[in-house]
Amino acid sequence: MIKQIDQYLEEVNNFSTQDLKEVEAFRIKFIGKKGILNQLFAEFKNVPNEEKKVFGQKINQLKQAATEKVNILKAALENATDDNLTGLDLSRPGYPVEIGSRHPISLVKNKIIEIFKHIGFNVSEGPEIEDDWHNFTALNLPEYHPARDMQDTFFLQQNPDWLLRTHTSSVQTRYMESHQPPIRTISPGRVYRNEDISARSHCIFHQVEGLYIDKGVSFADLKQTLLYFTKEMFGKSKIRLRPSYFPFTEPSAEVDIYWGLETETDYRITKGTGWLEIMGAGMVDPNVLRNMNIAPDEYTGFAFGMGIERIAMLLYQIPDIRMFYENDMRFLEQFKPVL
Ligand code: DAH
Repeated sequence: MIKQIDQYLEEVNNFSTQDLKEVEAFRIKFIGKKGILNQLFAEFKNVPNEEKKVFGQKINQLKQAATEKVNILKAALENATDDNLTGLDLSRPGYPVEIGSRHPISLVKNKIIEIFKHIGFNVSEGPEIEDDWHNFTALNLPEYHPARDMQDTFFLQQNPDWLLRTHTSSVQTRYMESHQPPIRTISPGRVYRNEDISARSHCIFHQVEGLYIDKGVSFADLKQTLLYFTKEMFGKSKIRLRPSYFPFTEPSAEVDIYWGLETETDYRITKGTGWLEIMGAGMVDPNVLRNMNIAPDEYTGFAFGMGIERIAMLLYQIPDIRMFYENDMRFLEQFKPVL
């Protein structure tokens, strides 16, 4: 009896075919209802007690081998009929399957979002194709305002009122249009400028805009918020606000962080000063509030805007902005979360 099972086992192990019908016949023969295995199981009660153990083991072994054989042959042949090959799926990715990493722009963006979420900011977005009103006019930049030249604009040919947004400040105006204060929002996104591409600047880049409007918001709130941000983002706790000009804020400031002068790179990137400019900010101009039907005698607010590439370049010491967009795996693979 045991010998017989061994013969079956050999038959199972040697079985091979390119024909699905033969696989089915094989399946019926061994594991079908009236198949060999069921016959053997029925035989079990007649086996002398001292042989029962070995007999049991043998039929289980046979059952396993036959089931496996059927599954393997079926899988291979079904695959083969799919692509008329011999079970070889040329479209499958090779091994080992590499796990991807996040793009450095996404890493930095997510970190900024996380930092501001902790102090009650939500995240908002707006369209990349904007109209003149939301990108310029409502932000206190009427037509012919000289400050429009600060941002060379791509206009859409079909309709000169449409453009590719030059900054995420356009999301401020969209947000104020549809929300009443208190407003506390940050708006990350892609922006476009008609600029020559170089190691320092690109015609497509990313910004994060911040907007906080409520009763009694002051310049001191702005400074504290930015200080908290720079501590969390860079681990640096010294900032300075230099007077500057933006049409949508009054007063306006450029924000520098004290980076330090410890290494040669520090000297190079801060031009020997130790200070680095990281964003623009200011108190939202009353004209902007008025344009958005928010009463400036009741509400005040601050806004800020920063470039994500610039921050990523500082954090990761990336020398050329073009590297972000080339999708070179050797570059992308290097990024682990900043957390
Ligand atoms: N939109 C400005 C730019 O793209 C950055 C900016 C400056 C945004 C000051 C602000 C701000 O919200 O208050 O250069």
